[in-house]
Amino acid sequence: MTTRHRIALIPGDGIGTEVLPPACAVLDAVGRRHGLDFTYDTFDWSCQRYVTEGAMMPEGGLDRIRHHDAVLLGAVGWPTVPDHVSLWGLLIPIRRQFQQYVNLRPIKVLDGVPSPVARATPDVDFVVVRENVEGEYSEIGGRLNRGFPTEMAVQEAIFTRQGTERILDYAFAIARTRRGELVSATKSNGIVHTMPFWDELVREAGARFPEVSWRQEHIDALVAKVVLDPSRFDVIVASNLFGDILSDLAAAVAGSIGIAPAANLNPERDHPSMFEPVHGSAPDIAGQGSANPLGAIWCASMMLDHLGHPEAATEVFDAFASTLATADARTADLGGTATTKEFTDLVLQALTRH
Ligand code: NAI
Ligand code: MG
Repeated sequence: MTTRHRIALIPGDGIGTEVLPPACAVLDAVGRRHGLDFTYDTFDWSCQRYVTEGAMMPEGGLDRIRHHDAVLLGAVGWPTVPDHVSLWGLLIPIRRQFQQYVNLRPIKVLDGVPSPVARATPDVDFVVVRENVEGEYSEIGGRLNRGFPTEMAVQEAIFTRQGTERILDYAFAIARTRRGELVSATKSNGIVHTMPFWDELVREAGARFPEVSWRQEHIDALVAKVVLDPSRFDVIVASNLFGDILSDLAAAVAGSIGIAPAANLNPERDHPSMFEPVHGSAPDIAGQGSANPLGAIWCASMMLDHLGHPEAATEVFDAFASTLATADARTADLGGTATTKEFTDLVLQALTRH
């Protein structure tokens, strides 16, 4: 029996267009072994489109991908287009309209990826669960008195009970399937309204998950601990801004931004979820065929898991993890000489050997 999946591909800009074909090749290869058939629809939504047509995506663009099973995105951003345009013109609308309120980032130290952090041993294995649709990234606020000495800006953070409870429940539920340890990132000593509210809701969620042991740490102390002793962590749950910063820091601890994956999940599956590598469009190396496709391939593995194919997901993970362990398979960002294509071919070979 064949299971069919329709995937919306948004390669975006720069190396985004170079790392998605490897991810699709891996999906097709693992799909053949598991009776999965992937159909891809490619959308040219990008900064390049913004420059020629004045918008990152067409009017009603989201309706064109609403019924796909998942979205796979490369990266968007280009030096000639302000970053808030690419973010608010594409990524944030997708996350919000499709209620992808969980941003999930697994952090693992893989064999063959040198970490800049001495204590980042192979037992580092945690996930950052970031709230993805509200919190500090809100449109509420404004600018006053532009150009005058009294010029000012106000930006409000929005924390709703419903939005906070659902991300906390998601994080506690994941912790329950892992080592059962959760850390909540807070800053209730300095931020006196929203963060104490967050802390209260963490306490309530903790009571709903008695099998999970949890504690809270202020974000400033927490980031230091992630660098100094990353193997201590299992699940970290954080607001939109704290989670954004924490997950990039954690990706760096794991060795390279080029390998880190992220999932934007709509856990209820009312809308498609979106999978995107953490890295950007890397204009400095774009077009050279040297980008590391591992972040995108790891995203494909997370997507398989989300679509209900955990065994295929594990096969993909094992294939790239074993490939990385071979020195001459690594791309330049990991100190190797392999091209995007060479690395991808080795992962494909490892998959068929499985
Ligand atoms: P970046 O992640 O594109 O690049 C940072 C550095 O890491 C560069 O030296 C780059 O060559 C290297 N790098 C990144 N990914 C790599 C890979 N897969 N293989 C090998 N080397 C890799 O971040 P940067 O330079 O700050 O941003 C460039 C553009 O990308 C900006 O317009 C930014 O807004 C956008 N961006 C988009 C993101 C997204 O689509 N989610 C996320 C981050 C940045
Ligand atoms: Mg970020």
